[in-house]
Amino acid sequence: MSDNPADYPSVSAWNRRSEREFVDGFPLAYPVFGEASFKEPCLVVSGSDGSRVVRLEFVEDRLREVDGRPVLDLVFRDDLLGLSIEHRFAVFAEQDLIARSVVLQNAGSEVLTLERALSAAIPLPPGEYDAWTLHGQWGREFGLFSRPLLPAKFVTESRRGTSSHEAHPWFAVRPRGETAEHSGSVWFGSLAWSGNWQAAFEVERNDAVNIVVGIQPFDFGWRLAPGEQLATPELLVGYSEEGLGGASRQLHQYEAQVQLPENHRERLRPVLYNSWEATGFDVRAEQQLALARRAAELGIELFVVDDGWFGARDNDRAGLGDWTVNPSKLPGGLRSLVDEIHKLGMQFGIWVEPEMVNPDSDLYRAHPDWAYHANGRESTFGRNQLVLNFARPDVQAAMYEQLRNLLKDHGRIDFLKWDHNRNWTEVGWPEEPDRQREVWVRHVQGVYDVHARLRSEFPWLMIEACAGGGGRSDLGILRWADQVWISDNTDAADRLQIQYGYSRAHSPRTMVCWVTDVPNQQTGRIAPLEFRFHVAMQGVLGIGGDIGEWSATDLAIARRMIEQYKQLRPVVQHGRQYWLVPPAAVGPCAVQYVSAAGDASVVFMYQVRGIRGAGARRARLRGLNAAPRYRRDGWAVERAERRKG
Ligand code: DGJ
Repeated sequence: MSDNPADYPSVSAWNRRSEREFVDGFPLAYPVFGEASFKEPCLVVSGSDGSRVVRLEFVEDRLREVDGRPVLDLVFRDDLLGLSIEHRFAVFAEQDLIARSVVLQNAGSEVLTLERALSAAIPLPPGEYDAWTLHGQWGREFGLFSRPLLPAKFVTESRRGTSSHEAHPWFAVRPRGETAEHSGSVWFGSLAWSGNWQAAFEVERNDAVNIVVGIQPFDFGWRLAPGEQLATPELLVGYSEEGLGGASRQLHQYEAQVQLPENHRERLRPVLYNSWEATGFDVRAEQQLALARRAAELGIELFVVDDGWFGARDNDRAGLGDWTVNPSKLPGGLRSLVDEIHKLGMQFGIWVEPEMVNPDSDLYRAHPDWAYHANGRESTFGRNQLVLNFARPDVQAAMYEQLRNLLKDHGRIDFLKWDHNRNWTEVGWPEEPDRQREVWVRHVQGVYDVHARLRSEFPWLMIEACAGGGGRSDLGILRWADQVWISDNTDAADRLQIQYGYSRAHSPRTMVCWVTDVPNQQTGRIAPLEFRFHVAMQGVLGIGGDIGEWSATDLAIARRMIEQYKQLRPVVQHGRQYWLVPPAAVGPCAVQYVSAAGDASVVFMYQVRGIRGAGARRARLRGLNAAPRYRRDGWAVERAERRKG
């Protein structure tokens, strides 16, 4: 990093400018197209005459208090265009984070078109940096990558409709070559948005870095009529001198204390059973009840019936859109299953996929125009389904109504798993030609709105977000969902890596992990049951295997492990997390949790696919109090993972 101030034009130099001049290399909090700059802009607006130059004049600053926390608004205006813009800096002193966003308002009399409306820019002084980002695909989410920022641009993004499996709207920037987990400078950010997004990292001519983040500008357009406004999603930004670990703990605190739905924020997440891997689409009342009896014996607290209970859902070719009980599968109705499960002392949860429709469904037969489509073009199917146009108020209302009926007509449903299983294509709304490029954003707003309405009408309800595994695991959905299913890959060794990556950005109390059968359904690998449990205990423990088939020995192990997890759970779910040895494909891995008071700590240590006994067996513990003495309580050594055959 350069320490020569001459390398980096200062803000006072900017203020002293006597005439308009190029401002590349200046640290700008919100570069706009129209300034004399070639920086990647945050804002592009066209006026009714087609003009595309924006010139903002400072109007005022306002310091407000929201929920007891300071919010600074900087207000700017372009009178010629009739645009007003408020930059919001909400300060979270306890978590040492700032939430950045803007509110764009049409203060004139002509329609404006927003071509790009990002949330914020982060300027970094001239220097040499690496960008750290998360990437993957279905079954391999949250891989952590670093790359040097060199002249030119690096862009990470989603254009798939959700925040996506391929890239995650979280990033960190570190001085070049720094990799320490527990020390070193890190600038980081996380965008609270569950739709298309983009983060662009640009090295400028003076080696300063301009990072711009927000709603994906590709195929975005927003018609802003006089008086209307658009608020962008919040970008949480922070700085840590405690490496990526320190940065992650700040974000975990933010989720735990600010972002997560308030009514369940402090609630310990129940140990759950999910029947998907055991029964697939073949859901039948008796077979679910048999699983539930076994689950209750194991100490499970929440029983979740996954896909297959509704409409004509015998496979993935039919039923999506018809959220009514299939009477041949549940002849006594859903209510009797709900009641039986409650009698067993467990909560009841159920799976839905409200944004999707199979053409073979009553909903699609009645409303074929409710799915995204482009006139005269054939639609592409993903998993035999189409995406409902959730930008449409009538679609939102209809899906809300179906979900509401589901939640109120069958006794108390405690938990919804809200899934989303395909990327969006032919994202058209031919009936609203002026709004076509707004659908990417309006859809996400509609999804948030339906969540909000359900939460307010059914305050006891817990929601798990899911998108074919971890395709929609972001800070935005965690405003409305209590936890996330982060990957369909339940192979314990792979999970170590996936869970490590997820925890860079999100807290353990939101991370759902299942113990499943071996050979693993996704990878065919075999691993000892204790190892599978200890990996799943890193977050919210669940079981997803066919416990009806488990041996007496395995059931006894499961009972013991669940009991043990319940004792550790307050520290795991609510403690501070430290990766002592980050996971590698082969070798040791260790993660530690420390209670808020620092009086208890949990450590998981693994040896993955290595030679038994080889590799590190020691790790320096973190975050403990210097004065007290700690007593070791519990000890478990597991065998290395075995490969099938
Ligand atoms: C994808 C999810 O990730 C799985 O857990 C399961 O719910 C299936 N969808 C059901 O179709």
